[in-house]
Amino acid sequence: MDVSPERIRRIVALAARAPSGENCQPFRFHWDGAWLTVSHDAARSRHVLNFENRASYLTLGCYLESIVIAAASEGLDARIELELADTAARVAFVARAQGPCGDASLLLDRCTDRRRYRGGPIDAPLLREIEDDLRAFPNVTIRLVAPNDELVDYVAHMERLQWCTEPIHRGHTRYFRLSNRAASRTRDGMSRASLNVGPATAALLALARRDFRVQRTLNQFGFLRIFAKRVRAWVRSAAALGCVTVDTTDPAGHVSAGRATLRTWVTLNRDGYAVQPLSICSYMVFNRDVGRYPGELPAAFREGGAWGADVLQRNYDLPPSEHVAWFFRTGRAPLRPMAGRTLRLPLERVLTEVAPLDEPEVAHAV
Ligand SMILES: Cc1cc2nc3c(=O)[nH]c(=O)nc-3n(C[C@H](O)[C@H](O)[C@H](O)COP(=O)(O)O)c2cc1C
Repeated sequence: MDVSPERIRRIVALAARAPSGENCQPFRFHWDGAWLTVSHDAARSRHVLNFENRASYLTLGCYLESIVIAAASEGLDARIELELADTAARVAFVARAQGPCGDASLLLDRCTDRRRYRGGPIDAPLLREIEDDLRAFPNVTIRLVAPNDELVDYVAHMERLQWCTEPIHRGHTRYFRLSNRAASRTRDGMSRASLNVGPATAALLALARRDFRVQRTLNQFGFLRIFAKRVRAWVRSAAALGCVTVDTTDPAGHVSAGRATLRTWVTLNRDGYAVQPLSICSYMVFNRDVGRYPGELPAAFREGGAWGADVLQRNYDLPPSEHVAWFFRTGRAPLRPMAGRTLRLPLERVLTEVAPLDEPEVAHAV
């Protein structure tokens, strides 16, 4: 069907608010008048934790579900075709028989919240709504379990490990935007407010970002102890830890997991529940399932994967047919102030369009 470029721009502007690892924003859009192509910019998502592009598949899922939500509010159904050999997809639009639905402005309110939460519980009607939404993703299951000592220990261990490992540190800090100037110049990455660190910590992180030896020294002088203590407090402050599983190890499963999680994330944020992915806790468990780990990572990550598989299986009662794709915490929290939000690249940098063809003058002459 004919969809005006203005509608496509509105849809893409909302979809571009989707989350991505470190806010690296690794997808581009092209509208050719019939298809909206979503293509991967691998240079932006280069990270040791984006092993076999799994973070990018989750992110693609978040972008695609955001397109679905934005299109529905325009009265359009989005028909998605995955092109996973290229970590890409294309989307066509058809008019929705029932007209516009949903509130796409919720995509603007969705955000990652790294602060301490105010517990729970998660209200029963909200849980039912989330379950109903998940019916659209039959190969994905999201289980929510209240934090307990074992889960807190596991999350704190894995989060802490990241600060001791140079390739991960490099991947994360590449997208630290520790001054307002850096954040507004690049319009990507994670600002100081979004990272939830004070000015003194930001100054230390800026030094450590240049040279991992600085981070090593900080680690020896209390950074790891303080960080692990904070992570424990954050995780304990959650109403629940969410474990997202899929019934396949194929990339399409990760795209579905991303879609389902984005849908749940938006709904939780709408009702006053903050969300923070804790991806390291799921990535290593998935790596263990498929028997492949990034070669650059030390053995501690394999050991973490084995421990995590055991902890998550026990706490979430996971059947052997399910694979852990993503992990997050959620809990009640006051709305994240706008100052804590991350920026996005300008629309003209992420969306290209075929210019409407001017009628060739020669046609009139014939
Ligand atoms: C695949 C993926 C993995 C992520 N992993 C983490 C994580 O482990 N820890 C974290 O604090 N945030 C994580 N995030 C959140 C991103 O850093 C966040 O979405 C991005 O900085 C944009 O910020 P926003 O969500 O507030 O818009 C992840 C997001 C995605 C899509």
